[in-house]
Amino acid sequence: MKVFLTGASGILGSDIAKQLELLGHIYRGFDSQNIDIGNYKDVQSKVEIFKPDYIIHAAAMTNVDLCEDDRDAAFRINVIGSQNIAQAAASINVPVTYISSCGVYGNDKKTSYTETDVTKPLNFHHTTKLAGERKVMEYSKKYLIIRPGWLFGGTITHKKNFVEARRKEAAQNAIINSASDKIGSPTYTVDLAKQILMLIAGGYTGTFNVVNEGCATRYEYVREIVNLLKLNTIVEPIDSGAFKRKANMPDNECLENANLNLKQVNIMPHWKDSMKEYITKTYKL
Ligand SMILES: NC(=O)c1ccc[n+]([C@@H]2O[C@H](COP(=O)([O-])OP(=O)(O)OC[C@H]3O[C@@H](n4cnc5c(N)ncnc54)[C@H](OP(=O)(O)O)[C@@H]3O)[C@@H](O)[C@H]2O)c1
Repeated sequence: MKVFLTGASGILGSDIAKQLELLGHIYRGFDSQNIDIGNYKDVQSKVEIFKPDYIIHAAAMTNVDLCEDDRDAAFRINVIGSQNIAQAAASINVPVTYISSCGVYGNDKKTSYTETDVTKPLNFHHTTKLAGERKVMEYSKKYLIIRPGWLFGGTITHKKNFVEARRKEAAQNAIINSASDKIGSPTYTVDLAKQILMLIAGGYTGTFNVVNEGCATRYEYVREIVNLLKLNTIVEPIDSGAFKRKANMPDNECLENANLNLKQVNIMPHWKDSMKEYITKTYKL
């Protein structure tokens, strides 16, 4: 397969690129240095030159608070960018996979969301991610929409590396605080990349939640990281109100892989097993 991959320098995109390589696919990776997804002419010409037979769109403006501050940029990248990718895919008749977010569901449930639940995003970032889904559905002929959870993975130099950010914070403080009233589905980028490529290989289309098994509060998530890193730092549970944020964040972002289970193709391990694998490999512990 010849794959056009956006967001290739990101924590997820770089693992999708690695998995594509391992599976022997040809791919070309794009990031903000070599494509402007907000510009249709740029997208269209790059797609026409490479002539892929599949497009995976993992690029996005991912800083949730910045999306509140710069709504024009968030709309241009996440909504118009996704429309441009879908339109370019349709123009050469190839399918597209769009990476969405667990945040599109909003905050109406206490239990895990399934793909049939209503979507009601709370902040501008999640609103643009949902609008991106709708553009992909409207403009592309064949699509796969993936809703992942709280991502962890990447190299220690990745800006968005959640584990490395907590390691640095824990290394500098005897006590760190983490919200015990925010719950979600930690999701390892390597597992997610493998599951996405499995769905693509199987020709699946439609919308799929793709998260590691098990939910955790932010506090439980951070405590597991600190424990696995064998750091002495104490992690204290705290109310999220103590962290001042521009964006309104949902209390519950837990997802159930209902569609994967229905189709009997769920290969996602428990997040604690994957976190152990990631930390052991990354920090040679
Ligand atoms: N991280 C999470 O917890 C999380 C949770 C749910 C869903 N997601 C979704 O998963 C996907 C991957 O996220 P991630 O965490 O891997 O993101 P990331 O590490 O922040 O990487 C974002 C990627 O998008 C590229 N990009 C940004 N603006 C662009 C533009 N105008 N034109 C072209 N490329 C552009 C970046 O390129 P540069 O490196 O050159 O800037 C980078 O390759 C995104 O769709 C995100 O919304 C992430």
